[in-house]
Amino acid sequence: GKGGHRHFMAKEIFEQPQVIGDTLNAMFNPAERTITLPDLPFDLGAVPRITMIACGTASLAGLVGKYWIERFAGVAVDWDLASEFRYRAPVMAEGGLAVFISQSGETADTLAALRYCKQQGQHCLAIVNAPESSIAREADAVLPTLAGPEIGVASTKAFTTQLVVLACLAIALGRARGTMDRETEARLSGTLTEVPSRAAEVLNHDGRIKALAEETITPARDVLYLGRGTSYPLALEGALKLKEISYIHAEGYAAGEMKHGPIALIDDSVPVVVIAPSDDLFDKTASNVQEVVARGGKAVVFSDAAGVARLKDLALEAIALPAVDPFVAPILYAIPVQLLAYHTAVDKGTDVDQPRNLAKAVTVE
Ligand code: M6R
Repeated sequence: GKGGHRHFMAKEIFEQPQVIGDTLNAMFNPAERTITLPDLPFDLGAVPRITMIACGTASLAGLVGKYWIERFAGVAVDWDLASEFRYRAPVMAEGGLAVFISQSGETADTLAALRYCKQQGQHCLAIVNAPESSIAREADAVLPTLAGPEIGVASTKAFTTQLVVLACLAIALGRARGTMDRETEARLSGTLTEVPSRAAEVLNHDGRIKALAEETITPARDVLYLGRGTSYPLALEGALKLKEISYIHAEGYAAGEMKHGPIALIDDSVPVVVIAPSDDLFDKTASNVQEVVARGGKAVVFSDAAGVARLKDLALEAIALPAVDPFVAPILYAIPVQLLAYHTAVDKGTDVDQPRNLAKAVTVE
């Protein structure tokens, strides 16, 4: 059942503190504050380069993973959409690692990309939620997301648990390569252990986000989402969630790309959702908010108390999430964008769990 919720999507959003914790606990050793992955049939420390491949929301988890792995493990990551990858002539390093991310484990394009990479001699690692799936079976190794069954077509808890696995992979890679010291590993894995309780705090903003959805997003024809760094994939994910279930046109953009085109769209009818945790890119994003507001745009800011203090006079609405280490911010900031899309869709009366034209697993190309 829906656990007392009106839709599976709501149930699955609210399960996130639990399943994020379950997924992390399978890899985290509390005594040493280290991360241990399941045994892998190849040497993680010897991987020269990584290719990250998926579709839809899973691909956006992969994009966060790219930023993390490059920053914390110092390995180059090529990021690809499975539907593009399989029809290009992709060049991969010998002995490279290909990572496939999929909730269902049955997405046709992702599976085809996996088969191609195996044929090319890449080590193939799958991050999947369905353990009995084709992708899980055919990969050389599996890092499971322990999200439990996800019924709503919109991916929510699969996404945040994919992020947890990718964060652990980044840490494990850093250690295996000798690029991450013990202290950093303990600090980063420690910040991950705080995520379940912080996620529960984020869910307390549900009522305020519902009001925001009804007042500001439902009436809009177009909505823009902006973010920088690991908040950029979150902006893409926010826009994907909104269009998928509410049928409102939405676009996610890297905040720094605004001046390269999309700023021309801004007027007082366009809400701009800004994902802006306090991190070393905050000031840059804040000046983009200024540019949006100067053109009449209605900025809706998700930040923490420090960020909200800086932007509340400019923004139409600014919601303060718990302050966290920037490393784990993408996991937490996924939740408000899910809630915003959910409440907008409910308000519009769409079929939230089974939006038109969409299937839970895209098993045809
Ligand atoms: O089962 P998969 O994770 O491979 O599915 C990939 C996409 O089809 C999926 O994430 C899709 O984008 C979601 N409906 C988005 O909410």
